[in-house]
Amino acid sequence: MSSSGFGRRRFLLGSGLSLGTLLALPTVAARAEGHKVAVPLAKLEVLKSVGGSIALKLKDKLVLLVRDSATSVRAFNPICTHRQCVVAFSANDRKIKCPCHGSQFDLDGHVVHGPASRALETYAAELAGEQVIVTL
Ligand code: FES
Repeated sequence: MSSSGFGRRRFLLGSGLSLGTLLALPTVAARAEGHKVAVPLAKLEVLKSVGGSIALKLKDKLVLLVRDSATSVRAFNPICTHRQCVVAFSANDRKIKCPCHGSQFDLDGHVVHGPASRALETYAAELAGEQVIVTL
């Protein structure tokens, strides 16, 4: 064995990493980035106007999309963190509200009114031309 090969092996053993672990790292990183799902705006007529919102299933996940400005859209898991009712966006006061017990969330998903105590899960979302791209 060459001295450099011996050095790599000693490094791996010393660090507690195996070659298999190192080879698996890119796969883990790719999963962490999530899956990008593109939906044509033509199929989301309600999102063409600021204040529009829609809940739909993307890749087997229920997603609430909110058109919050002329240039942006936000995406949430619409399952309330209190007792799992489905929340909806209220354009009047720009809050996400739960019909079951009155919890309210801001457009970052943070709780602004209980009884929920945990934020809504959010997903990265963007407008790209005539598409909404959500990373799940
Ligand atoms: S389930 Fe949403 S506030 Fe209770």
